[in-house]
Amino acid sequence: MSTKILVLYYSRGGSVRKMAEEIARGIESIADCEAMLRTVPPVATITEKQAHQTTAEKDPYASLEDLKICDGLAVGSPTRFGNMAAPMKYFWDTTGDDWFSGTLIGKPAAVFTSTATMHSGQESTLLSMMIPLLHHGLLIVGVPASEAASLSTKTGGSFYGPTHFAGPNNDPNLSEDEIKICRSLGKRLAEVSVKLKG
Ligand SMILES: Cc1cc2nc3c(=O)[nH]c(=O)nc-3n(C[C@H](O)[C@H](O)[C@H](O)COP(=O)(O)O)c2cc1C
Repeated sequence: MSTKILVLYYSRGGSVRKMAEEIARGIESIADCEAMLRTVPPVATITEKQAHQTTAEKDPYASLEDLKICDGLAVGSPTRFGNMAAPMKYFWDTTGDDWFSGTLIGKPAAVFTSTATMHSGQESTLLSMMIPLLHHGLLIVGVPASEAASLSTKTGGSFYGPTHFAGPNNDPNLSEDEIKICRSLGKRLAEVSVKLKG
């Protein structure tokens, strides 16, 4: 049976989705590993009922079943005031039953983000996204310095997880180093998922 890795993201302008695609490529470079790309709905003043999915969105909305069937997961969100965006936080706020039953305990997880600026929120967003994952008992996987691009990058990239510097106009095109770091993270997450599943 294939190792399934959930790539769960929110993206308004497309930058975080580009990162999700590259992470999925890294995951699928490992034999028998399958990336499940899933997004989350936007939140509105009334959020009890999930908004209808629009055809503009490229991936299906994540379900709680996805958390049960995945062997590992990567979580991505744009930085909003140094933190994850509300739709991603809202998704995690619906996972209380899975926290209680331990659905995710012992599975590996990684985080990624995109920002307008170089120095206003990348690492704080990555660290804050790790908090609900640690509550769920997930094991955090980062990008070690053995990935040379994480040392040479002049744009995004960190040991805590891949990042993209999108600039003030939110350019979603990733730099060569950012692509390498996304793929490297995807590959590592897949390798760790296979080992832990084994
Ligand atoms: C309400 C709001 C808050 C934001 N806060 C930050 C921030 O704290 N730091 C930053 O560098 N960029 C910030 N941004 C910019 C986004 O993080 C950036 O454009 C990101 O690349 C968007 O990703 P997406 O295209 O996947 O939606 C903010 C954008 C919005 C709309």
